[in-house]
Amino acid sequence: MSSGEAITSVLQEDRSFPPAAEFSEQANIKPDEYQQMWDRANEDSAGFWGDLANENLHWHQPFETVMEGDMPDTKWFLGGKINASYNCIDRHLDSWRKNKAAIIWEGEPGDTRVLRYQDLHREVCKFSNVLKQLGVEPGDRVTLYMPMIPELAIAMLACARIGATHSIIFGGFSADAVAERNNDAQSKLVVTADAGWRRGKELPLKPAVDESLEKSPSVEKVVVVRRTGADVNMVPDRDFWWHDLMEDASADCDAVELDAEHPLFILYTSGSTGKPKGVLHTTGGYMLGTTMTSKWVFDLKEDDTYWCTADIGWVTGHSYIIYGPLSNGATTIMYEGAPNWPDEGRFWEIVEKYKVNIFYTAPTAIRAFIKWGEEWPSKYDLSTLRLLGTVGEPINPEAWMWYHRVIGQEACPIVDTWWQTETGGIMMSPLPGVTATKPGSCTKPLPGVVPDIVTKDGTSLPDNSGGLLVMRKPWPHMLRTLYGDHQRFLDTYFSEIEGCYFAGDGARRDEDGYYWIMGRVDDVLNVSGHRLSTMEVESALVAHEQVAEAAVVGFPHDLKGEGICCFVTLTSGAGSEDLKQELIGHVRKQIGAIASPDQIRFAAAVPKTRSGKIMRRLLRDIAAGREQVGDTTTLEDYTVLASLRESDEG
Ligand code: PRX
Repeated sequence: MSSGEAITSVLQEDRSFPPAAEFSEQANIKPDEYQQMWDRANEDSAGFWGDLANENLHWHQPFETVMEGDMPDTKWFLGGKINASYNCIDRHLDSWRKNKAAIIWEGEPGDTRVLRYQDLHREVCKFSNVLKQLGVEPGDRVTLYMPMIPELAIAMLACARIGATHSIIFGGFSADAVAERNNDAQSKLVVTADAGWRRGKELPLKPAVDESLEKSPSVEKVVVVRRTGADVNMVPDRDFWWHDLMEDASADCDAVELDAEHPLFILYTSGSTGKPKGVLHTTGGYMLGTTMTSKWVFDLKEDDTYWCTADIGWVTGHSYIIYGPLSNGATTIMYEGAPNWPDEGRFWEIVEKYKVNIFYTAPTAIRAFIKWGEEWPSKYDLSTLRLLGTVGEPINPEAWMWYHRVIGQEACPIVDTWWQTETGGIMMSPLPGVTATKPGSCTKPLPGVVPDIVTKDGTSLPDNSGGLLVMRKPWPHMLRTLYGDHQRFLDTYFSEIEGCYFAGDGARRDEDGYYWIMGRVDDVLNVSGHRLSTMEVESALVAHEQVAEAAVVGFPHDLKGEGICCFVTLTSGAGSEDLKQELIGHVRKQIGAIASPDQIRFAAAVPKTRSGKIMRRLLRDIAAGREQVGDTTTLEDYTVLASLRESDEG
């Protein structure tokens, strides 16, 4: 967005779906409660959050102050002592829940494991002792680079138990990406696996760790889970098998009583400049946010089987596979593999097999389901589903309608949840027993959340004007800093709009107070619901000896939401099909398969402003096959445009 003007909105959507009376009657939040809660939170934030924290979390020592300071540096629950692992496990053990399934896991090949709360407690205590024995102390950082297996959940909760800060790196990232994150966090230990299963193939992990450790010297020890049985190289005194260490570990390990502001985890997310940002979340506020939002938004009930299909490598998995559901004593499903393995019915087979009640997925997955056809879900009994959710990117109204009709069988409310890695938990979403939904809108802020739509100078915009989405008040589960770079935290989120957290998204609020997210206003790509920095892809490309310059933009992609288009200028010579393939492979190696370019276009030059900034808006138009309609007055060299349009598509 260039200046302070509003963003023009083109979406028209008039359909509305009020909650069914039967749903509202049994809902955790009833129709008359939402406004009362929101008003109370707005008038007395401390009272509102303080009461919830006392009623919904276990404190080893009660907090004295609910919140101190205003944005950007708000601290929550000072004086309180708390442990996330205790809240997710121990507090359920002195009731019948000790024998309740905490995690139902299904591996891609079809193997299964069920961890009851007391099993989870035993495994987490044992691995906590393993970590301690390997020298991990409170405050140390531990990298988890693992497939979606129960050991990942166990390792997270073990870190939390002893006060170590976990940094989970999605298994699709490359060795270089792992090394960069290890270095930034100064990780002491890495937990990984030999490999994981993905579409019937082994996805090796340990070799990438080996390679990464050549460049990340802070890591002293590696624990390796044997998942597939793949051959791996074990370095004596550095690498240890999980099963060997666990064999002798004691199952006795008290949860450490930690300050509420103790760092729980770092999660790296792409920024608009090359280096990933280490979003840091702390214990008390994050646990309150994820606990309450799980209860309100997913309407979690004691006998629900809940499934969030995200990977734990992303924030959705942190907050809504592990911390939020387990804190509520829920049964959470974890699935290792791909949605189309062995066939396109796999998700629906899992829904039928475990009689799933609540299903939370991403619009990119829904678009794939639509493409695969209704015959897949129609083979299975989906009648146990009572609530559906989406997250990660705007859902187009037609995909919403398909989800509603085919998966929800027109009987399930859909919660379209807007939030970010930085917000820690859901910020805007329908409450399923309260809010009438409109396809494509994340509807309204949750109690305690105070968003606004503003211009660049911070002026509130009237209804139906698109603008910048900001938060005007702090909330307990917001990020506290970017690890090791507090100035970048201030610059990234708090410098653009005076007194507000600026989320990076554009949005519009309609006459009913409903929010419609219009996508990000910066250059970050959203590929299959994953945020990727154009800069990271560009730096990967220019690291290739034949590439002089690269400009990367997104373009609308049927399946992925956004595809990656790379404009590349070469140091010499002409481009070829072979070079295209080589560059694609190069980016995959540097960043990972999720950043795999969809188009490589060779060009003599890229359009730049006089100050040397790449004019991405023009490139986006070209990548999407649109004619330029925007302002090109700042363009330095007009001839560049014509040659770019002629550059062939890859
Ligand atoms: O642009 C918004 C989009 O995803 C961004 C956050 O990405 P990330 O930090 O990776 O977290 C994803 C999971 C929470 C947001 O700034 N986004 C997320 N949810 C929605 C969304 N856009 C529209 N509607 C949503 N429900």
